[in-house]
Amino acid sequence: MRHITLDSTFEEYQSFSELPQVDQALINEAKKAALDAYAPYSHFHVGAAVELENGKIIRGNNQENAAYPSGLCAERVALFAAGAQHPGEKIKSIAITAYPESTDNASVPVSPCGDCRQVMAEYEQRYGQKIRLIMESGEGKFIVAPSVKQLLPFLFNAESMAAK
Ligand code: THU
Repeated sequence: MRHITLDSTFEEYQSFSELPQVDQALINEAKKAALDAYAPYSHFHVGAAVELENGKIIRGNNQENAAYPSGLCAERVALFAAGAQHPGEKIKSIAITAYPESTDNASVPVSPCGDCRQVMAEYEQRYGQKIRLIMESGEGKFIVAPSVKQLLPFLFNAESMAAK
C-alpha cells in the first residue's frame, strides 16, 4: 500500500475589483441570474453564467420542484441551455453565485455540487478545453479553478467505460 496525494491549484482574489474584468462581468451576470431563481423550498438562490467561445453569455438559476429531486441546480440549467442552444460552441468559463433569502441578496460562498462537477467535466472533455470556474468564497473574496479537473479527481468519463 502507498498513499497518493493529489495537488489542486486555485487562484484566490481578495476582492471583486482584483478579479480580471471578464470574470467580474461574468459574476455580475450570475448575480442577475440568481435574482430570478425559483427556490420556494430551499430559499437559497443560485445563479450561474456560462461564457461561450463566441462571446455569448448563457444564464441559469436553480429551478426547484415540489418533488424535490426533480429540480435542477443553476449550473446545470445554464450548461444544458448552452449545450442545447449553441451545440459545438466551446465553454470558456462559468461563474457561480448564491444568496439565501435571509441575507437580502448578499452573496455567500458557493461551490458546485458533485453532479454539476460531473456535467462540467463532460463538457471539458467534449470540447477539449478547460473550463474556468469563478466562485464567491466569502468575505468578498473569490476562488477561481482553472479547470473542472481541479475539483473532481478520479472523475468518471467515457474512457472509464472503454474495454481494456
Ligand atoms: N444549488 C445550486 O443550484 N447549485 C449549487 O452549486 C448548489 C445547490 C441549488 C439546488 C437547490 O435548489 C438549492 O440550491 C439548495 O440546495
